[in-house]
Amino acid sequence: MFDQLIRKYPHEPQSYLGKAQTLDHFAELKQSNHLLMEAIEFYKKYLQFKLNDDNQQLEYRSAGERCVERLRFLGQYQQALPIHQLLIENFPQESAIRNQLVVTLLMSNRLLDAKLELQEILKRWPHDGLALVNYGFILKQLDQDYHNASIYLRQGIDTKEPGTQDGRYYFQLGESLQRLNKQTQAVEVFREGAELKLFPSVYQRSLYNERNLKAQPFWSIEETTYEKFLKKLKDNWMAIKAEGQNILSKEGYFTDEAENLKNKGDWKQFELYARGQQRKDNCLKAPITCSLIQQFPAARDCRRGQVKFSVMHPGTHVWPHCGPTNCRLRAHLGLVVPEGTRLRVAEEERTWQEGEFLIFDDSFEHEVWHEGKSLRLVLIIDIWHPQLTEQQRRTLSPI
Ligand code: LMR
Ligand code: MN
Repeated sequence: MFDQLIRKYPHEPQSYLGKAQTLDHFAELKQSNHLLMEAIEFYKKYLQFKLNDDNQQLEYRSAGERCVERLRFLGQYQQALPIHQLLIENFPQESAIRNQLVVTLLMSNRLLDAKLELQEILKRWPHDGLALVNYGFILKQLDQDYHNASIYLRQGIDTKEPGTQDGRYYFQLGESLQRLNKQTQAVEVFREGAELKLFPSVYQRSLYNERNLKAQPFWSIEETTYEKFLKKLKDNWMAIKAEGQNILSKEGYFTDEAENLKNKGDWKQFELYARGQQRKDNCLKAPITCSLIQQFPAARDCRRGQVKFSVMHPGTHVWPHCGPTNCRLRAHLGLVVPEGTRLRVAEEERTWQEGEFLIFDDSFEHEVWHEGKSLRLVLIIDIWHPQLTEQQRRTLSPI
């Protein structure tokens, strides 16, 4: 019927919107991305019409916002940009509309563009909470400007405006303060976040959590329930070490840690599994290690983690940080371990030993120092938290 209406009244926006909404609904019922893309085309046609009736403002706005949201869902951030522009043109007085563009830019990792947009927003709306927290977030991640990041994040959070009470902003504010050596203030922020239940506790600040999982900084091999598999890896530690060292001996295979966690030094990794998928090209270079992991389902299928060699050189300090989820444990198999390296998890420091496992829950705050004289090499194996059900292991979103 909408098709008929469109044919009969091609200059009438309403029929395009009707068709878009119908397709959108149909796409959800059928879980079809193809139908969804068709729906988006009709949203776009509708949105091209000029708004001349004030009564239609609300409808136009929600259609535009829905279109953006669906494009984000499909990961088509680039395509969402002209829709944002239309919304901004039609609602020039609304900071919320411009903040939506910032979110799309952040989702597509265009931090610099997001920063420039935020500068414009803050010129007009200097007290806008969402703009303030996002600007602080970018100053930390893009510029490592912890001082100004902490000021903007604090101001934004204190507005208590919708969207600002998010674990990520408390997390980033606390980390900025830690990096400024303001530990007492950082802990206060983490306490605020934990009290608001934005993350589990002051030390455990993961954002993707499942309920009721045992939570403690360090784990023994027995506690993991994966003794059999871990022992097999341990028995083969020399072969694993040889593979790691061989890859290390060639230029360019190990890559820099990319999450801005390092204060100083040199820390690189070589990934074998990520998000429960084997990196086939890399596994060819470590066939024994990968065949051992293949026999270890809780590691092989761990969609919320990785398996990787990690090399750290003398003079490295890794800032205190937390992993993203409480669903995994992180097992380190020591391969080359000089004196002078240590790992703190929550309030306890430990060190590695060659051929031995050191297992911790990396959703707890941890920090690493290498004050020794030669490189340290470990194999990092993320494994599903033993209390997760089969159902959870199958259905949790990958990280
Ligand atoms: C970490 O997981 O943050 C570190 O412990 C990794 C490493 O190489 O020590
Ligand atoms: Mn870590």
